Amino acid sequence: MQILILGSGAGGGVPQWNCHCHICSGIRHDEIVAKPRTQSSIAVSSNGEDWILINASPDLRQQINETPKLWPEKGVKRGTRIRSIVLTDSQIDHTTGLLTLREGLPLPVHCTDVVYEDLTTGFPLFNMLKHWHGGLQRRAIDTDHESEFFPEGAGDLTFNPVVLESNAPPYSKYRDNIVPGNNIGLKITNKVTGKVLFYAPGCMQASDLVKDMLKQADCVLFDGTLWLDDEMIANGFSERLGTQMGHMPVNGDGGAIDMLNEYDINRKVLIHINNTNPVLNENSEENAYLQSKDIELAYDGMEINL
Ligand code: MLT
Ligand code: MN
Ligand code: ZN
Repeated sequence: MQILILGSGAGGGVPQWNCHCHICSGIRHDEIVAKPRTQSSIAVSSNGEDWILINASPDLRQQINETPKLWPEKGVKRGTRIRSIVLTDSQIDHTTGLLTLREGLPLPVHCTDVVYEDLTTGFPLFNMLKHWHGGLQRRAIDTDHESEFFPEGAGDLTFNPVVLESNAPPYSKYRDNIVPGNNIGLKITNKVTGKVLFYAPGCMQASDLVKDMLKQADCVLFDGTLWLDDEMIANGFSERLGTQMGHMPVNGDGGAIDMLNEYDINRKVLIHINNTNPVLNENSEENAYLQSKDIELAYDGMEINL
């Protein structure tokens, strides 16, 4: 399985256009060593030819243009190697890129019922895009983790949904009141090698199901949004804790570092990293601490072979 990290940042990206935090302004003025990051998306493939886009970022156009493996095949007037799309939630940072795909529709989009509900009501992308060549072809994802599904182009890859505790976006009727399916992670298994990827860009709780996935995984791409639960409050950007936004802090008791290191996982990688997270500064104590714990920080353009 080939995994491309198209966007390793959380909503807003790094630097965020209106943000003057230490990381955003440090990057802008070249005062710190930190990589810019686009908003959250990955692509996976079993053969390197046919790709499944997982989450469609507002930065999708830039991401495709910077990724030769996703360029149109030679010999077609117009076309794409993206055979289907899978959404893990209905957040802006994971869905707005569907608008960018309008010239290449129809394309199949796999999502749960409640994500589809948000994307036909509060943020009606499915309705709007009907006007482009028939629009998005919706495919339902069940919430039972044993329900395998096979997105178009999956080849040897099997997908299982993993219901996660997180939150729904402000325009969702499920905001602060989630039901199973507002947020899923994905267990992706290569049938030939048996290798397992667990992708969970938004997760605030180590449920039994999450623990079970961590036991099985060879590679985990896990929610690295915030270093500390009160990071947005301490920066004066929000009155909400990370856990109220739906994100487990990386550090501290109940944090992602300790959780991930309870398991024997070959590659542990943080993804969906918010611009306020001090770990982004490559000379920070936090960055050194993460490395000492054998956990990687995803970056745009990173490739993982599993
Ligand atoms: C989140 O996951 O909480 C988002 O990044 C929020 C957003 O995109 O605005
Ligand atoms: Mn997000
Ligand atoms: Zn910032």
